[in-house]
Amino acid sequence: MKDAAPTEITLRRPDDWHLHLRDGDMLRAVLPDTAAHFGRAIIMPNLVPPVVTAAQAEAYRGRIMDALPAGSQFQPLMTLYLTEDTAPADVAMAFESGLATAVKLYPAGATTNSASGVSNFENVRPVLDKMAEIGMPLCVHGEVTDPQVDIFDREAVFIDKVLKPIRKANPDLRVIMEHVTTENAVDYVRDSKKNLAATITTHHLIINRNHLLAGGIRPHYYCLPVAKRERHRIALVQAAVSGDERFFLGTDSAPHTDPAKLQSCGCAGVYSAPVTMSCLAEVFDAADKIKQLEAFASLNGARFYKLPPNDDMITMTKGDAIPLPPGPSTPDGDVTVFDPGFDLHWRVSA
Ligand code: NCD
Ligand code: ZN
Repeated sequence: MKDAAPTEITLRRPDDWHLHLRDGDMLRAVLPDTAAHFGRAIIMPNLVPPVVTAAQAEAYRGRIMDALPAGSQFQPLMTLYLTEDTAPADVAMAFESGLATAVKLYPAGATTNSASGVSNFENVRPVLDKMAEIGMPLCVHGEVTDPQVDIFDREAVFIDKVLKPIRKANPDLRVIMEHVTTENAVDYVRDSKKNLAATITTHHLIINRNHLLAGGIRPHYYCLPVAKRERHRIALVQAAVSGDERFFLGTDSAPHTDPAKLQSCGCAGVYSAPVTMSCLAEVFDAADKIKQLEAFASLNGARFYKLPPNDDMITMTKGDAIPLPPGPSTPDGDVTVFDPGFDLHWRVSA
């Protein structure tokens, strides 16, 4: 007979391997939501202006530490925003001193605040060579920006046109393909022999493009890469619950105020930090894989980044449906929390 499904799980404290914290009022408003559950997070550098140099990353890290709730043990893992002017020596110094954990590659114009990203990949080759030499990982926003390419195809085209050539030229470079949204990306990562992993967001495990567009447009489900067909969502869930070490959580929790999202040209970004662990537990539980949540959220990412898992544990408990928490408020407006569209029963209880 099958064991009864567990209603309580204990797992290593999770980490978020892709997170937007912003700065100023927004940083102070959103940071407690992540620090409540997560031990560490890879902090995206797409501020305005972006976090390009080691000195800028050090200053930003200081602002994050100042905004942390008293007593929090949360550790921000800083990234440097790759530009065509990035100096290999600055990147190496930032990594070797422990200040920066990774470099972030945005194709110029791919997403929110990516105007300073890379247009000509030849121009960043010396930085990528240096990173491969010192073992520093590259986080990649994997979408081409060519306006001729349909937005639903931009990830798949990026793999063929950009990622394969980069990895061929530099097989020792450790690459994280971030927020993968397609079966193509899942297959590409699965077929790779080494030095490639992928993060998967909470919301891409839950929504497909119908949730975004059918029966009315839902701006709070608009993010980049944009949600794809249901068959892609299913491929993501299968990868996430499989326990395969190359897939791990990067929430891409990306807060924007409601006024910035609810307008004729609204911003891309889903704010999932407060409900991510509850949502993930629902997804894993529905797949009968609740025990694999620890690998996805707490173990695989640390392993790829060559860091130890967190020392402490969290407990999640399944009970009556819990209401969606209110989002944070800033002087520029409120932030709406990701609504998975189903009841949440799991909560972080300790
Ligand atoms: C992110 C943001 O708002 O900074 N938006 C998003 O839709 N994911 C940028 C990004 O990660 O692409
Ligand atoms: Zn992001």
